[in-house]
Amino acid sequence: MSFPQGFLWGGATAANQVEGAWNEGGRGPAKTDVTTGGTVSEPRYITYLDKDGKPGKINQFERLPEGARYYVNPDYYYPNHKAVDQYHHYKEDIALFAEMGYKVYRMSISWSRLFPKGIEKTPNEEGVEHYRKVFQELRKYDIEPLVTIWHFDTPLYLEQELGGWQNRELIDHYVRFATTCFTEYKGLVKYWLTFNEINNECAFIDMVNEMLHMTKEEEDARYREAYQLLHYQLVASAKAVQIGHAIDSENMIGCMLSTACAYPMTCDPADILKTEHSWENAIFYCGDVHVFGGYSPFVQRLWREHGCEDLDITEEDLAELAAGTVDMYTFSYYSSGVVTTHDVTEKAGGNMSTGAKNPYLQYSDWGWSLDPTGMQYFLEKIYDRYRIPLMIVENGLGAYDTVEEDGSIHDQYRIDYYRPHIQAMSRAIENGVDLIGYTTWGCIDVVSAGTGEMRKRYGFIYVDMDDEGKGSMARSRKDSFFWYKKVIASNGEDLD
Ligand code: BG6
Repeated sequence: MSFPQGFLWGGATAANQVEGAWNEGGRGPAKTDVTTGGTVSEPRYITYLDKDGKPGKINQFERLPEGARYYVNPDYYYPNHKAVDQYHHYKEDIALFAEMGYKVYRMSISWSRLFPKGIEKTPNEEGVEHYRKVFQELRKYDIEPLVTIWHFDTPLYLEQELGGWQNRELIDHYVRFATTCFTEYKGLVKYWLTFNEINNECAFIDMVNEMLHMTKEEEDARYREAYQLLHYQLVASAKAVQIGHAIDSENMIGCMLSTACAYPMTCDPADILKTEHSWENAIFYCGDVHVFGGYSPFVQRLWREHGCEDLDITEEDLAELAAGTVDMYTFSYYSSGVVTTHDVTEKAGGNMSTGAKNPYLQYSDWGWSLDPTGMQYFLEKIYDRYRIPLMIVENGLGAYDTVEEDGSIHDQYRIDYYRPHIQAMSRAIENGVDLIGYTTWGCIDVVSAGTGEMRKRYGFIYVDMDDEGKGSMARSRKDSFFWYKKVIASNGEDLD
């Protein structure tokens, strides 16, 4: 095996999926706090009061009806409110990460814990101090924090009153938030990610289309929203990168994209071209701006195809993009997909998984393909394009776990998932890829982002909490905990 000395082994979570304490410590609500739990087949819903004060709900990918206001409905359970209560358990969790030998812990800062509405000029001190204590605790064990500034949790006030990221004003609010993070945690944190899975906005449109059966006009409107919102986020990211570097030249600041790693279903040239175009839309659109500092030529075609040539993009914005390129490219990798121009007989299905089924791969209980070779393919393809350090900041298996009578959890399937992925990373490194770290997703069980479930478990650490919010929150070590500890101790040599 060929992992370099100092390789950053660890795990990853996001504030809204682990912290809980949604209304403690001066925190304001975020959109995840009005989102219910779902299942593999039932979507998560966003709850609201319509313009006449009547409660209602929409699929999380639908738009709020005219005049409606987000609403926490007492008739529903909102899994992110409690999550796994890391807000109160962080010392215990970090001690467990240290026991596994973590070199790095990826986590996010809840925006509304620092700026409850998002518009305040100064941060909520209690929130600032909370994260300071968390970072100090990590440092106590020599665990490097890797901090995502935005992980799906824009303050609800900004969503409701300003229309969310469709509004240019959000750039300034985000930049204030990011600047506060860089300033307050200077010397404690040096690895930063500006936006989690920023590319989901355009990468998910096909999936949303399958779900909501949009007309061409609706689809184009969706693309317009996505491209406009992305532009503001990309500018916000570029500004944050520049500020982060100015505050501390030691800061290593990255982008973070989801991996819509697509293969052509056939060798029909039309399938090859369609696949290439899907990479452009879903991955390179954002990746190129982050790394190269501007929109790539194919973007004009995408804008033309969806009638978006008149987006709000200024010369100053383009100068910011050029000046705020990232130091590293990080990504989540779970599975791969299939693209075709032909009729599809067998669909992939499951949650957040669309397109044709790949007959060469197995699928998880949630319909996600299991494809370690795809990880090697993606690493090599991305490094070939960008030639900057890469980090895999999410990878893992969502699975049902069974707690035995003696409390043990035998999750051999999770070990069997990780082993070939780690081997794939090693092969990519041997092939010249500059991979600097690996944080598995949900090193501890978390609330699923896609389904809101607890039963879709990712962790090496089990949390006694179910989908109805019942459980003691007690933590326990799964078999994979001991296995990953060995992997880290041997720097990826011992995978047995
Ligand atoms: C990524 C997100 O999309 O995938 C995480 O960054 C998320 O927040 C993870 O939890 C796994 O997805 P899910 O739907 O299984 O939680």
